[in-house]
Amino acid sequence: MFVGIDDISFYASDFYLSLATLAQHNGKDPNKYLQGLGQHQMGVLPCDEDIVTMAANAAYPLVANKGTDKIRTLLFATESGVDQSKAAGLYVHRLLNLHQNMRIIELKQACYSATAALQMACALVEKNPQHEVLVIASDVARYGLNTPGEATQGCGAVAMRITAQPRLLSMDAACGCYSEEIMDFWRPNYMDTALVDGKFSAQAYLKALKYSWNDYQQTGGRPFASLARFCYHLPFGKMGEKAHRKLALINKFSLTEEEISDTLLSSLLYNRYIGNSYAASLYICLLSLLENDESDLSGKPVGLFSYGSGCVGEFFSMEVQPGYQAFSRKQQHFDMLEKRTEIDYQRYTELFNLQWSTCGKEMILPKQTKGRYRLGAIRNHQRIYEPVSEIKTTSKVNMNTQTDNCY
Ligand code: CAA
Repeated sequence: MFVGIDDISFYASDFYLSLATLAQHNGKDPNKYLQGLGQHQMGVLPCDEDIVTMAANAAYPLVANKGTDKIRTLLFATESGVDQSKAAGLYVHRLLNLHQNMRIIELKQACYSATAALQMACALVEKNPQHEVLVIASDVARYGLNTPGEATQGCGAVAMRITAQPRLLSMDAACGCYSEEIMDFWRPNYMDTALVDGKFSAQAYLKALKYSWNDYQQTGGRPFASLARFCYHLPFGKMGEKAHRKLALINKFSLTEEEISDTLLSSLLYNRYIGNSYAASLYICLLSLLENDESDLSGKPVGLFSYGSGCVGEFFSMEVQPGYQAFSRKQQHFDMLEKRTEIDYQRYTELFNLQWSTCGKEMILPKQTKGRYRLGAIRNHQRIYEPVSEIKTTSKVNMNTQTDNCY
């Protein structure tokens, strides 16, 4: 029996900021972002979207397609949690009307946790092949205005249905891990932007790649030359290219810039327009590969490298299943990206600086998203989510009044 990804879908926030606009405001050459980082746009959350609504939007097509009866576990990977206690997956459980007899947890280890979720999901399905696992990764990358990290912000969610006899990708047994306690990127509980030692974080990523790869080889992993394609965690597109160059050199292959960009081109596409989506990023990269590569990848192995600062790395591989193209949602994903709204710099900073209710006073959010689910209000310290089709209120809102009389 083999297990793996039977279905996969992603969701990008409704708003985006062009990095050319950001460069102009930050007094930078736009090519630093477009060519130097390999990024063109970054996703920005409307005020009524967050990790929960993005997750529900990403998972909806998977549930609409095959129903919910077999899904008995939901693993929600994020480093942008909305509650210190309650798993974000529980909100998704209600929004998607999932089965009551199931387990739901939230996993955290920076951008790595979705890979832990995927491995756990495969083990659960191996234990009981009748059951399926829904893995969702949803994140918002925030660094602070006018910091070096600002151009590598973004957001997005990906949902994967893990089953026996999957239609898209089967998981190889071999995998290699590397962990080390370092301070390359972190976010204390009292902060809503990440702290990062940017150059060190890139070095740490490459070090984790090297040692994860070595471990992968020692556990019976496939040789470098036999892997048809590669997917990397993408804090920004160029990081994937740096990683591939490094992995090739470790394996004594010297690739030209052209060969590197040709190999990775199809996998970098979606991330280029949504930016860093932390835990979701590697799997949006994988989806981009499946939907945009011009070759028939049937029966071909793909190598994947997952990296979460702090740090944990994992190299593993999956095999693309024959006929995978029949289940592609490429058109829907392109339409979704196409229908997003470009915002100007002022609106971006307004959304960035939005003050959230922290005192229990009601904060009703105006409808901004075109997505299927939204955050309608924060009331008595509770987040109130609703399907957009069920919105009853048309209240006018002053989103910045919630701090009045808080204390
Ligand atoms: N035209 C073309 N290229 C240009 C250019 C121009 N006018 N100006 C600069 N560049 C190039 C630079 O040469 C550089 O390329 P190389 O790396 O190939 O040398 C690239 O653009 C970036 O320029 P800088 O190195 O000067 O950029 P910076 O120091 O201002 O910021 C960064 C870059 C450190 C990555 C910063 O964006 C950052 O801190 N980002 C957040 C941290 C991050 O993403 N780390 C990645 C690894 S950690 C991880 O993966 C986990 C995670 O998700 C956070």
